[in-house]
Amino acid sequence: MNVSGTIRVPGDKSISHRSLIFTSLAEGESVVRGILDSEDVRATAGALRTLGVAIPPLAKEMQLTGRGLRGLRTPSQALDCANSGTTTRLLAGVVAGQPFSARFEGDASLSRRPMKRIAEPLTYMGARLEFDRGDGLPMTVHGAALRSIDWDTHASSAQVKSAILLAGLVAGVEVRVIEKSPSRDHTERMLRAMGVDVESDGNQVCLRPAGKLNPIEIDVPADPSSAAFFVALGSLAGSGELTLTDVCLNPTRTGFLDVMTRMGADVQVVASANSGGEQIGTLRIRPSQLRAARVTEAEVPSLIDELPLLACVAAGAGVELEITGAAELRVKESDRISTVVKNLRAVGALADELPDGLRVHASRRELAGTIDPRGDHRIAMAFGILSAVSGNRITVLNAECVAVSYPGFWEDLRRVAP
Ligand code: S3P
Repeated sequence: MNVSGTIRVPGDKSISHRSLIFTSLAEGESVVRGILDSEDVRATAGALRTLGVAIPPLAKEMQLTGRGLRGLRTPSQALDCANSGTTTRLLAGVVAGQPFSARFEGDASLSRRPMKRIAEPLTYMGARLEFDRGDGLPMTVHGAALRSIDWDTHASSAQVKSAILLAGLVAGVEVRVIEKSPSRDHTERMLRAMGVDVESDGNQVCLRPAGKLNPIEIDVPADPSSAAFFVALGSLAGSGELTLTDVCLNPTRTGFLDVMTRMGADVQVVASANSGGEQIGTLRIRPSQLRAARVTEAEVPSLIDELPLLACVAAGAGVELEITGAAELRVKESDRISTVVKNLRAVGALADELPDGLRVHASRRELAGTIDPRGDHRIAMAFGILSAVSGNRITVLNAECVAVSYPGFWEDLRRVAP
């Protein structure tokens, strides 16, 4: 397979969610450029509209008028979070500090995902969370006057950390969050840029009470998790070169590039500007002979969403890969350990599940068969990359589920690897 071309993948999903939520809580007019227009971000926009914010349709450049920290409206219907964990957990933090209640609903996948991790700290702060069953959606968050919290998550989750920071922000109380290792820090960066005193020190974050959020201008950089698919494609290709522009190079998101480099990938990173508190740059990828790798717990947060792709890269290159310390993958959009291993086997690769990860075994055969991503966008795209590699014959069922994070994925893939 020959690859060629330049891709500017769509805007970062984490930053896009936050840009809508935070500018809604600001006082005055903000501008957001380059937001990701995907199903997940539309869910956040829809939920904010239900909370009384006048969010226009998602567009390249958006003017957003905030309602202030406590200007949201009692919702007259449930907040439909669709497939989006980020929408649910961040907005649960926001609602926890409001003088009203909101019911959160989602699709079958989201309804299976655990909410205890946010219910515990938000309940400790004084909110009340009610579940129809277990700790999944539907869930009702009853907001209240909250108290300060100093919370050790014993995990690494930007969604949990952000829920607590947002609850503290809207309630006007100091909050401190301690993580096992630092998760992505887009919330901290954006809130700082909006005038909030947020102090990070290693794996601890402290947010001090702020009277208000200042409006902001945000240029959303390209999503490194979406760019990763084309880093993989360029590395597995037989010839050619790919260029990816404007990619967010936030160090909490670049674990995939580090592991690929360790595996022998030819990725040139040219850091350029700093945009809205985030470093961005251009990636140049050329084909290379990849070698075996091991990923352990300490590295997992920096490439949590790229682990299914990494497994597919190892299978495509026919090299060993072991991932451990990643049990969190079992509670993502699908059980990503089981979905990846089952699908790798379905196309003839050798792979095993581990309780907290997976193992791909070295093999040289061409891969062929049909895979079912179980509605999980990142699994569909990871196998989409394998399907483009010469000699492979892979059909991806339910291919349209990529719309959750990257609606134009298949078109971009066909353009650079015709
Ligand atoms: C996200 C945090 C991560 C990540 C998800 C987006 C965010 O989830 O997997 O895709 O935007 O905060 P966790 O916080 O559950 O690790």
